Order: sequence, then structure tokens, then C-alpha cells
Amino acid sequence: MSNPAEIHPAPAGFAGPDTITAEAYARDYARSVQDPDAFWGEAAKRLDWFKAPTKIRNVSYDLQDFRIRWFEDGELNVSVNCLDRHLATKGDKTALIWEADGPDTESLHVSYRDLHARVCKLANALRNLGVGKGDRVTIYLPMIVEAAVAMLACARIGAVHCVVFGGFSPNSIADRVSDCGSKLIITADEGLRGSKSVPLKANVDAALKLPGTNTVETVLVVRHTGGAVDMQMPRDRWYDAVVDDQPDSCEPERMNAEDPLFILYTSGSTGKPKGVLHTTGGYLLFASYTHEAIFDLRDNDVYWCTADVGWVTGHSYIVYGPLANAATSLIFEGVPNYPDVSRFWNVIDKHQVTIFYTAPTAIRALMREGEAPVKKTSRKSLRLLGSVGEPINPEAWRWYYEVVGDSRCPIVDTWWQTETGGILISPLPGAIDAKPGSATKPFFGVQPALVDANGAFLEGAAEGNLVITDSWPGQMRSVYGDHQRFIDTYFKAYPGTYFTGDGCRRDEDGYYWITGRVDDVINVSGHRIGTAELESALVAHPKVAEAAVVGFPHDIKGQGIYAYVTLKAGEEYSEELRKELVKHVRSEIGPTASPDHIQWAPGLPKTRSGKIMRRILRKIAENAPDQLGDTSTLADPSVVDSLVKERYIPQA
Ligand code: PRX
Repeated sequence: MSNPAEIHPAPAGFAGPDTITAEAYARDYARSVQDPDAFWGEAAKRLDWFKAPTKIRNVSYDLQDFRIRWFEDGELNVSVNCLDRHLATKGDKTALIWEADGPDTESLHVSYRDLHARVCKLANALRNLGVGKGDRVTIYLPMIVEAAVAMLACARIGAVHCVVFGGFSPNSIADRVSDCGSKLIITADEGLRGSKSVPLKANVDAALKLPGTNTVETVLVVRHTGGAVDMQMPRDRWYDAVVDDQPDSCEPERMNAEDPLFILYTSGSTGKPKGVLHTTGGYLLFASYTHEAIFDLRDNDVYWCTADVGWVTGHSYIVYGPLANAATSLIFEGVPNYPDVSRFWNVIDKHQVTIFYTAPTAIRALMREGEAPVKKTSRKSLRLLGSVGEPINPEAWRWYYEVVGDSRCPIVDTWWQTETGGILISPLPGAIDAKPGSATKPFFGVQPALVDANGAFLEGAAEGNLVITDSWPGQMRSVYGDHQRFIDTYFKAYPGTYFTGDGCRRDEDGYYWITGRVDDVINVSGHRIGTAELESALVAHPKVAEAAVVGFPHDIKGQGIYAYVTLKAGEEYSEELRKELVKHVRSEIGPTASPDHIQWAPGLPKTRSGKIMRRILRKIAENAPDQLGDTSTLADPSVVDSLVKERYIPQA
């Protein structure tokens, strides 16, 4: 349970000479919101610009006159900021450490100089293949060095990358490729996760047979496992054959600060995943500033974020933030429980990791294995721990703090979203005392607020919907190809604010406690999935008439997926069909979308106007049938009784 009085200051001796103190935070936060132009104009100097911006901020959330622009007359290149500018003084410093899926495969250390050369070679190759500024490139790679190289090479030539998580299915690849009209895909023969191979190239082949994908001219294939793949010439080209002989320098494209940098698809409460569009200057500035301040970054740190580059955390806090800060960033291909559940801690010891950033779902899964697999490792190198992706329950927080960090390392619980580009609410470890389960206080320039269902602002200690009342540089700029959807989704619910979709409580000390999504998005192991996507995958099965999906509390995943399915007339319920439906959803979306429970529903609870009452379905899924509330407005209240009777009851 959370105990608001439980406070953990950074342990004595934690702070270094550049650690931000409580006084500095208070002073700079006040300045950042009172005079954002001055604050961010100054902060922009942390980047190298071809042309320094003179206009800092041009923002209006007014629906009639909507705009979000930062540093709009500035010009820069992201890859130059992540690579070239470090070469003179830090060329030999390790930029990336790659740790393979299996501990016996040798790890790699890639210096800034080497990474620069690799990026330039690929950038030249892409240009030769006809990819230029503004073209979209899909990246579907495992967690290997080439993933970072591919992102930076796109940035170098002004191409817009769209990374698709390696766990997604051919259907999901095709949806994304056709939505953004990619010209080229970079993939690998196979990926490896926990010694199992993932058929990446075969998935791309299957995706490119689906409608809407004929914009793709070239598929570059990294030879990673050496597994056999079909090469379809001239479309498919081996990466090394195209890249190795290229010159190792490449003229960077001059990009306007508001030119697109990448598109990343994420789930919302309605329809298909939307292409979150981030731009160049504000995004990079925000990723690098938050990374340095929140992780209290120092020159000799070895920093490890366990996310996948297929998610925004990998973009901002494996690649762009750390490399812009000339940090050493570790890329891990594997999983926490292979070859055994000490793997994370062994990797920390092997590479002397100082900063470790992971997700509550991983912490909970490892916590279940007890202390012994942790305690048999040293972990002495660690000095800071981070958490991201979902609310961390105080029990998991304490285990992370006491067992993993030996009560020596502060924890930064970082709240943010794909849309926000970087962390918005988090402790600064030397400035803000932690409370287990709270993301604590806003970062510089971030103005959170709570509103009730009618949009009235709540003051003091309160619980409501979390909105942000003003812009920050890392904010998304649009939904790719559908700007109106961007405005409608985020700025209409509570006019004059950005609506996060999260519920939140603020305590008497002004600390923020995120309570989870208040919309139809489920957060499974820190991965967002829209109930609408799941429902449309289910009804795409020929035997399904109707489906309704809700989240329910899950010990390890945070939330699990609970689906109510009504079959077409004449179809029979069976265990076999249940398994077939799970498989069907996995192949439509990907393994992260596997339903945990499918309950057969002879009927769904609907209002007389035909709207499914999810509130009731959520309560049944939570195994709280005594909390259904008013069911009298249902067209047929008796359907509820049968759903309650047949509900899934967790084993004690
Ligand atoms: O509900 C919040 C939850 O994850 C959502 C954003 O998911 P996504 O865009 O996939 O980005 C995940 C990585 C930034 C949020 O709306 N969330 C993320 N971090 C936290 C969190 N909930 C509570 N505490 C967090 N630290």
C-alpha cells in the first residue's frame, strides 16, 4: 500500500557537483513557467545549431488558432548533435555497448567515432537508393547497433523514420507502412529473444503482400543470426553489400527545427493506432535536457535503459537523449529471464552499469523470483534507478529500492507518453524526495493540472483528469496525415489544455500520483493497446459476431486483457475456438496483444441506444460483481446475470 508519509530523500553522498539541488529546482522551475521564452532560449544553447533560433516559442491551444512551434527559425541536424560535435573531445568514448541475447556472444563497444562512420555510410547508401529529405523509412529491427545507426542515418539525411516494434505482426507492419507511405524498410534476417528466433524478414515479406504497401521500393536486410531468408531481387538488398563500401563521411541535411524527425505509432481509444509525429529541434532539446537532469548524468556513467527502440522510451532514452549528451548507452537484445532471472543484474556487473532504467512489469516479474537471484550479484556500480511505463506499485518500488539498489540508489519514477516526447513528471534525484508510487513533481516548463469531468480545475489535494496547461518543446506536433485527429484527440476535451488520458491524484505536498488511463486504452506491461483495436481484431474472425474488451488488474502485467465475445448464430463455443481466437489476435496485432481471458458472452450489456456499458464489463472483469452500480438503463439487464455467473475468478 502507498503511504504518503513515506519519504525517501536521495541517500547521503549521492549528489555530485552538477546535481540539481532543491533550491535550484525551485528557482529554475519558477523561471521556466514565468518566462518560458528566456528559459528555453537559454536551454537551446545546449544544442549545436547551423542557425541559432531567434524565435523560441509560438504556441496557441485555441482551437480556432491552433499552433505548436518551437525554435521555428532555427536550423540543425540531429545526427550532428548526437555524433559530430562529440568527435573532437570524445571520439574514442564508447557511445553504445551492445549486449547480445545470449551471454556467451561477445558484446560490442562502439565509439562515437565508429558510430559516426557507420551512420555516415548508411546515410550515403540511403541517398544512393533515392531516399531524401521528408521520405519515410520504416525500421523493423531487433535491439542491435544497426537500429540506432538506422535512426541516426535517417536523421542525417532528413528522412523521417518510423520504427515498428519487432514484436509486431505482418498486419501491424503493413498498417504502419501504408499509413506513412514508406519508401524503404530496414530489417534483419531474424531477431533473437530468449534464444528464440523472430522471423523479421519473413514478417516483412508477408506484410509487403498486403494491400497499401506498394510504396516500398527497397528492403535492406541486416545479416544478424545468419538464418535463411528469401531475397526478392531487386527489391531486397543485403545491408552490408550496400553500406560497407560507402564513404564514412556524409554531408548532413540542414533541417528546420520544426521539420519532422520521426513518426511512432501508438494506440488511442478509437480506431487504428495513430502516427505520433515529432519534430527536430524541440524534441532533441527536451530529450537531452530531461535525460541529463533526471538521470543526473555524469561523464563516466554507463547508462542502461532496457526498453526496446520500437517504443518511445527507446527513441528518447536509448538513442537521442543519451547520444546528444555524449553518454555511454547500453543496448540489450535479450530478455530479463534468459538464460536465468539474474540476467539483468549480471549485465549490470559485466558492464559496470551506473544508471538502470526499466519498467514496473519487469520489476514485478523478477520480484516474484525472490531476492537470491539478485543478491548473488554485486550491483555495486549502480547509483541511480529509474522506472517508466505504468504506475509502479509501492511494494515493487520498495523491492527495487531495497533489494536491487541496496537502499543506496535513488529511484526516478518517470511519467510521460509517446506524445510528450520526453519525461514530464519525475523526481530530480538530488532535489525532490521520492515517495514510493508517486512520479512526484513536474520537470522544468511543465504545468500539470487536474480537472473534474466537467473541466473545472481542481486546486490543492485532489483527484481528477491530468491535463497540461501549456506546451513544452518535446510535445508531439501532429498525427501523421490527420492533423484534425490530433486536435480532436488531445485539445477538445478540456479546452485550452493538452489532455493526457490519465487519471491522477495530487497530495498535500503537491506530489502527483498517476492512477492509470481513464480512456479505453489498456496498459499491458507498459505497452499501450486500444480496446477498439482488440475488438476489431476479434470481430475480424469469421465466427465472431461481437466483442467488447476491457482491462483488469494483473499482478505482473499491471493490466491484463479481458475480452467478452459473442459468436455468430450457429457457431459453438469451445476451448479450441478460444485458443484459436487468442492466436488470431496475436497474428492480427502481435504477441503483446494476447487476450488473458476470453469470456463467452451470449449477449453484451447495452443501453437502449445500443451503447455497450463498459463500466459494467470492467467491474465483472475485476471480479467485483457487487459494484456493478445501476443496471436499470440496460436494454436487457438479465445479460449481466449470466456474465457475472460465468466470469473468470482468479485463483487465490
Ligand atoms: O498511463 C500512462 C503510462 O503509460 C502511458 C503512456 O504510454 P506510452 O505512450 O506507451 O509511453 C510509455 C513510456 C513513456 C501514460 O499515459 N505511464 C507511463 N509512465 C508512467 C505511467 N503511469 C504511471 N507512472 C509512470 N511513471
